[in-house]
Amino acid sequence: MPRIIVYTLLILGLLLLLPPVIAANARSRPNPNRPINIIQDMDLQAKFLPQSENDLFADKRSQRPAVLGSVARGEAYLDAHLNDGVVDGQWATTLPSQFTLDAKLLLRGQERFNIYCTPCHGYTGAGNGTVNQRAMELVANAEGPVNGTVWVAAKSLHDPTVTIQPVGQIFNSITHGVRNMAGYGSQVPTEDRWAIVAYVRALQISQNASMDDVPADKRGGL
Ligand code: HEC
Repeated sequence: MPRIIVYTLLILGLLLLLPPVIAANARSRPNPNRPINIIQDMDLQAKFLPQSENDLFADKRSQRPAVLGSVARGEAYLDAHLNDGVVDGQWATTLPSQFTLDAKLLLRGQERFNIYCTPCHGYTGAGNGTVNQRAMELVANAEGPVNGTVWVAAKSLHDPTVTIQPVGQIFNSITHGVRNMAGYGSQVPTEDRWAIVAYVRALQISQNASMDDVPADKRGGL
């Protein structure tokens, strides 16, 4: 075979390697440009991305806020006892009808309480959780605010101002927070918040129980 053909084939062979190398290189690093999309289907179409501008509105927001006074639809949202802990404009004094006060509910409440509440309120609800202890220590040893803030001690759930509260009010504190405590409505679903309320009540009873609360056959063991 003449040399010229051998060399031509060799060079062509090497050149053939270039496209896959370029493609592999392009795929291996992020690129802010639009991808080369040969079969488009409906991949690319005019739309407003979240947080993008829309000149149609005076405030230029493409994401429109809900109209003032909007109320979520559906019966579940209308149930004030379940969602707000309110019955006839007063704090509910009972669990919503969807719940049965049993060991299952209390165990669920205990589990959720131990996850979400113990860091500050402690396992018994006395207000001495580890986060609280650490913060109190920092504050005690500091002159003035720590990290630009002061610490408000987590309240004891056995404080008389809490034990007299109806369950609906405690539910509300968990949902929306209270004074310096943040709300857990966005993290803990409604059902679990009620389970926590039931467990808080159990904790309260456990600290202030009288002999009459103990079943007669168990009294001897105390
Ligand atoms: C990050 C710490 C922290 C966590 C976690 C926390 N709390 Fe609190 N909680 C506080 C503080 C602080 C207060 C007192 C707020 C104040 O008096 O300004 C408080 C107050 C309360 C009160 C008393 C409200 C009143 O009317 O005085 C209740 C009830 C309560 N918390 C329940 C809970 C429950 C239930 C959870 C778990 C879902 C929880 N908290 C999680 C810090 C916390």
